[in-house]
Amino acid sequence: MSVCPEVRLMSGVCMPMLGLGTSHKGGFDQDTVRLAMQEVGYRHVDTAQRYNTEQEVGLALRQAEGVDRDQVFITTKLWPGSYGYQSCLEQADLSLARLGTDYLDLYLLHWPEALNSSTVEETWRAMELLLESGKVKAIGVSNFQERHLQRLFTTATVVPRVNQIEFHPYQQDRSLVGFCEENKIVVEGFSPLGKGTVLGEKQVLKVAKEVGVTPAQVLIRWSLQNGVVTIPKSTNIKRVRENFAVWHFQLTESHMTALNSLHQNLRVTWDSSQVL
Ligand code: A2P
Repeated sequence: MSVCPEVRLMSGVCMPMLGLGTSHKGGFDQDTVRLAMQEVGYRHVDTAQRYNTEQEVGLALRQAEGVDRDQVFITTKLWPGSYGYQSCLEQADLSLARLGTDYLDLYLLHWPEALNSSTVEETWRAMELLLESGKVKAIGVSNFQERHLQRLFTTATVVPRVNQIEFHPYQQDRSLVGFCEENKIVVEGFSPLGKGTVLGEKQVLKVAKEVGVTPAQVLIRWSLQNGVVTIPKSTNIKRVRENFAVWHFQLTESHMTALNSLHQNLRVTWDSSQVL
C-alpha cells in the first residue's frame, strides 16, 4: 500500500492529503468505503450530517479488517439548519453516535450562514467547546469566502484550521487560497474532478496521455501539487483504487501551468459567493 502524505494542521493534528468523499449526491456504497480503507490504503474519509452517510461510514470503519479507528482521519460537518450553541453540541453527539466513535478528527461548519434563527458566531463558540472537551481534534469551516472568515475572526478564539471549498481546474479561487495560506488555514478541495465535468477537458487529456495516467489521476495530482488536500468521490472500487494510485508520478511545471490556466469560475455545486 502506498503511503499518503499528510499536512499538519495548526492544532497539531495530521491530515492525510488525499481522502475519500462520500457526499450523498452521486450515490454511496458502504462496501466501497470499507475496501478503500481495508485494501486500498485510504486513511481519510469525509462525510457530513447532510449526506446521510455517517452511519454507513461508521459501519465501514468498524468492518474494515486491520484498520483501527485511530489510523483513520474522519471529518464530518454541521448543517446550517442545525446551527446554534446548544444545537451544535447536540448534533455533534448525534454525529459521533452515528459514526460509532467518541471523537472526530475534524468538525466543520458546512456553510457560512445559518439557515435558522441562530448565528455562525454562537455556533463557532460551541465548536470551540467541543475542541476543548476533546470530542473533536480540530475545527474548521466549509464554503467560506474571505469575508466570512474575516467576520468569524472578529469573535473566534480558535481560528478555523481548514476551509473546505470546491477546487478543480475550472474553479480555482486563488485569492481565497492565498488568504487561507496567509492565515495558516489548510485548504481542502472538494469535487476535484468537477463531478466529472473536467475529465474530458482537452488539456487534461493531453497531460494524461503524456504522463501515461488517467484524467482523474491528473486532476488529483494537480490538486495535491497545488498544496490542496483533496477528497474525490466514487462509489466504484475500481475508480477508488485508480484515484489513490497517484504517488508514482509528478506533473511537470509546464503541466501545472497549463492546468492552472483553465480557471473559468465554474461551480458544480452550491455557490456561497452570494452569501453576505
Ligand atoms: P462514480 O461514483 O460512478 O465513480 P467529484 O469527486 O469531483 O465530485 O466527482 C465525483 C464523480 O466523478 C462521481 O460521479 C464519480 O462517479 C466520478 N468519478 C470518480 N472517480 C472517477 C474516475 N477515476 N474516473 C471517472 N469518473 C470518476
